[in-house]
Amino acid sequence: MIVCICRAVSDRAIRAARDAGAASVEAVGAATGAGTCCGCCRGSIARILAEPCRAPCVAVQDREDTSAETVPLRAAADRLKTP
Ligand code: FES
Repeated sequence: MIVCICRAVSDRAIRAARDAGAASVEAVGAATGAGTCCGCCRGSIARILAEPCRAPCVAVQDREDTSAETVPLRAAADRLKTP
């Protein structure tokens, strides 16, 4: 279903951005363009962000830090890429 008519962004694309680490309406906008024109869809984007994340999560241990955190799989893969 299209959520952002101005930018033709679907709920699936917004959920994919969220699952990849976009945690705010602004971050979803940066990733997909949704909500960056008239703004009418920003409430719908916020509601999607408030849904429970269903992406598979993994525990990631930061190379420089000894603390572990659980992050969505795609975000974890991005973090593990060598610079
Ligand atoms: S409907 Fe999303 S910015 Fe206009």
